[in-house]
Order: sequence, then structure tokens, then C-alpha cells
Amino acid sequence: MDYRVLLDDAMETARRSPERGRVADYIPALAQADPTAFGMAIATVDGEVFGAGDWQHPFSIQSVSKLFTLALALAEGGDGLWAGVGREPSGNPFNSLVQLETEQGIPRNPFINAGALIVTDRLLKLTGDAVGAVRGFLQAESGNPEVGVDDSVASSEARHGHRNAAMAHFMASYGNLRNPVDSVLAHYYAHCAITASCRDLALAGLFLARHGIRADGSRLLSRSEAKRINAVLLTCGTYDAAGEFAYRVGLPGKSGVGGGILAVLPGRGTVCVWSPGLDAAGNSVLGVAALDALTTATGWSVF
Ligand code: DON
Repeated sequence: MDYRVLLDDAMETARRSPERGRVADYIPALAQADPTAFGMAIATVDGEVFGAGDWQHPFSIQSVSKLFTLALALAEGGDGLWAGVGREPSGNPFNSLVQLETEQGIPRNPFINAGALIVTDRLLKLTGDAVGAVRGFLQAESGNPEVGVDDSVASSEARHGHRNAAMAHFMASYGNLRNPVDSVLAHYYAHCAITASCRDLALAGLFLARHGIRADGSRLLSRSEAKRINAVLLTCGTYDAAGEFAYRVGLPGKSGVGGGILAVLPGRGTVCVWSPGLDAAGNSVLGVAALDALTTATGWSVF
């Protein structure tokens, strides 16, 4: 199979869509992203990677990091995590606070911001350095030591992160944080501000396609834990558009407001796509369109 031709075709089909979306600007440093950037990569379970367009260009991974924090927190701490965060779709925007008050400060799932703050908090408690754990994992799995934190993006978000700060304080008021709010927020902003390319993320996500096995052959997660993460990615990884994403793409996936989406083909590989223009739910417009085109052309799906 010629993966590069598949990627070129999927990107070409996506480009025909008249929609382009809008670059996120609520984190001012992200507003500088090039709206015309577009890249896509496929990694196979044997560690090969193929790309097209801007697939080697680093971008701000933002919420794609939440997939890795969840995997590492489960690997380090096990199922106790689920006492503090649920596994149901929220049906609300990623930065919504509304359900927290009636649900005792326990967020619906680990991929909305409130849930990711809980996961970051637990990973910080378990490792002493949540952002270091995520960065180290991405570097090891991608083989790219350049994967790092863009401090200007992290501090830009910290200056404008009133909603995340409100959520963290609110959850702390329910006793659902184990660390000081400021430390949790600092680690959360920093892991969201990691920069990596489609190539790096496709390789780093392969453990989910390999049912829990890392690049060096060691086991990060049990087969069942990997399945569970894929399940939560499918139902919650693209927020209140997860139903639409499952309908169009048919794969577990995680999006970020930097315009990246990492999708998993269990047993086969991963696909990562990047284009900064976002739809109203915060998912990359061309990214979803390209994944839709790829899975439609190949029949790749978990269904
Ligand atoms: O907390 C935030 O708002 C950002 N650091 C991450 C949000 C995000 O990527 C949502 N994804 N589509």
C-alpha cells in the first residue's frame, strides 16, 4: 500500500472543502499559527512513518497531550484515577464549568479541560513532574529529542487562563485536587504547550495501536487499559463533536486547539493531521475532513 499517495489524496479531498475554520486566539500566542499549514502522517505498528505536506513541522499539541497524561497516569497509578474523573461524554464545550457544580467537582471525562486538570494533578503526585513525564515519553516514543515545551505559549495561556484557574479552584473546593492549584495549572499549561510534529505524534501514539506496547517493546499499559483509553477517545476525544467525529471518521482520536488530531487504528497504526483552522467545537476543520477522506477511501475504522 502506498501510504504517501493515500495521504496526498486525503489532503487533496479535504482542500476541496470550502470551510477553513478559525485559528484559536483565546490563547494569544496560538493566534500566530499559519492558517495555511497542513500536514499529515501515518505510522504503522512496526514503527514506519510516512507523511505529506507539513508533517515534520512542529506545532502546539495542546489537548492532544491529554491522551498521554491519561496513559501515563493510568500506567503509574492504576484505576484509582477514576474516583476523581468520569468516563462519559460531556456534551458541552471543552472549557465548560457547568456540570462541575451539580456533579460534586468530578469532571465528566479526562479529555475536557476540567478532567485533564485532575489527570495532571494525579500524574504530578505520582511522578513529581507531570510535564517532564509527558515530554520524556514523547521524546522516547518519537525518537526526537527536540520535542519540548514552548514557554511563550505556556505563559501566554497562564496569563489568559481564567477559566482553567476557575475550574481548578472549584474542584479544589470539593477536595478533588492533591496538589496546590498553581502547580497543577503550571504543569497543565506546560504539557499543553509542548511542540511536536505530525510525525512525532503519530509515532508517540503507536502504543495505543499496539495494545499498550511502547517503541522499545516494553509494556506501558495492559491490553485492556489500552482498549479503554481508545474507547474514551472515541466517545470524548473531540468534545461535543465526538458523535460527529465517530460518524465521519470512525476512529478513536484526540484533537487540540493548535489544530492537531491524533487518531488510532488499533492493530494497524496511527494517523496524525495538523491544520490550525478550527470549527466551533475546537477541532481542526481540514484535519477532520482529511481523516474523513482517508477512512472513507481505505475503509479503515473500528467499526
Ligand atoms: O486549556 C486549554 O484551553 C488549552 N490549553 C487546551 C484546549 C484544547 O486544546 C481543546 N481542544 N480542542
